[in-house]
Amino acid sequence: MLNIPKIVENFPKLRQSSEIHADAPGGTQVPETVINAISHYLIHQNANLGAPFRTSKESDQTLLYAGNTVQALLNARKNSEIIFGNNMTSLTFHISRSIGNTLQPGDRILLSKLDHEANISPWQLMAKDKKCEVDFVEIDSETCTFNKTDLEQKLSKKPKLFAFTACSNATGTLNDIKNLTKMAHHAGAIVYVDAVHYAPHKLIDVIEWDCDFLACSAYKFFGPHVGILYGKESILNNLQPYKVRPAADSNPGKWMTGTQNHEGIAGTAAAIDYLASLSGASSSTIKRTALEAAFNRIEAYEKTLATSFLQGIKKLNGIEIVGLKDLTTINQRVPTFSLTSNKVSAVDMAKQLALKGIFAYSGNFYAKTLMETLGYEAKGGVLRIGFVHYNDLAQVEVILNELKMLLK
Ligand SMILES: Cc1ncc(COP(=O)(O)O)c(C=O)c1O
Repeated sequence: MLNIPKIVENFPKLRQSSEIHADAPGGTQVPETVINAISHYLIHQNANLGAPFRTSKESDQTLLYAGNTVQALLNARKNSEIIFGNNMTSLTFHISRSIGNTLQPGDRILLSKLDHEANISPWQLMAKDKKCEVDFVEIDSETCTFNKTDLEQKLSKKPKLFAFTACSNATGTLNDIKNLTKMAHHAGAIVYVDAVHYAPHKLIDVIEWDCDFLACSAYKFFGPHVGILYGKESILNNLQPYKVRPAADSNPGKWMTGTQNHEGIAGTAAAIDYLASLSGASSSTIKRTALEAAFNRIEAYEKTLATSFLQGIKKLNGIEIVGLKDLTTINQRVPTFSLTSNKVSAVDMAKQLALKGIFAYSGNFYAKTLMETLGYEAKGGVLRIGFVHYNDLAQVEVILNELKMLLK
């Protein structure tokens, strides 16, 4: 099992105050090792790449190490399939231009109503430029899961691209990525997976899933603000990058516009090393193996947090979870909960929790299409309580008690 008090000791922000972070879906806190890796890079190695002097050579090594480390996290086949950038949104806008150039007017693309806007707007704008048609997979509003009949019908229109989330950042709903990818490939679509919200909770596996692209963001998995894009080599090789002439002509350099956030990339590798360290295995263990063990522990622990929260919310009057609510569906979600009340608005609940030192967001969290579809957008959205492995059962209890008080 995870030793939570020991884990919290690793996080300067968490160990120094009693504030309760239920805001992880908006961005996680960082362990000391990540902060140290960023400082170390800036103090000892700060340079641009490709020169013969020490700091530049060490910067080359830092980026190579980070690429290898992200490769282990995603289970990519090659380091050259790992592209760094500012954030998931920028990377998605960037690659969407190159993918758009392979499409013809009238081609269809398929998006989902469960997604964050970062996996919707870039594709809609690309479709507008290229005169393509856009379809959306409908969701079942009770469960906030894809409507299977609608999905099959939309795939039968033979879209060229299917972009969907691995996990909703609003409701915590998980998608069956492997099966969806198989169905999309069968229909002739390439698959773009948003794993931003999935990454801190479960272990990504691009080989097992066979997706063509996958994007995530280190600041959601205990690292700094750096975006990550995985692209299957065979597909990257056939796309034309938008790049400056002197930049590399090979993967991944041709996709990484301008000078990268080297210190952030150093911190990203440290965040993955931190996750691997949660396996409890020795540092000589192969990183992917350590990550597998670590995420088994994270998942088991997060399930205890989710169970406690689901049971507690059921006992409160005037508030309910949006989407999957039952313990029977606990394996189809992560511990991220959207809540709505007929007594207090979401914005007021967030404000009152903040006064008690509990940090939680209200609104649409850029899952705007979902909130519009469910009818919450016009009401100011929902309250989001999100847990990760550094939260504990006592904090769940405190939040439930505060919710009970403010609903009185
Ligand atoms: C599910 C999901 N996708 C995409 C994004 C956008 O990520 P970024 O901030 O790295 O652009 C977020 C950010 O909240 C998210 O939660």
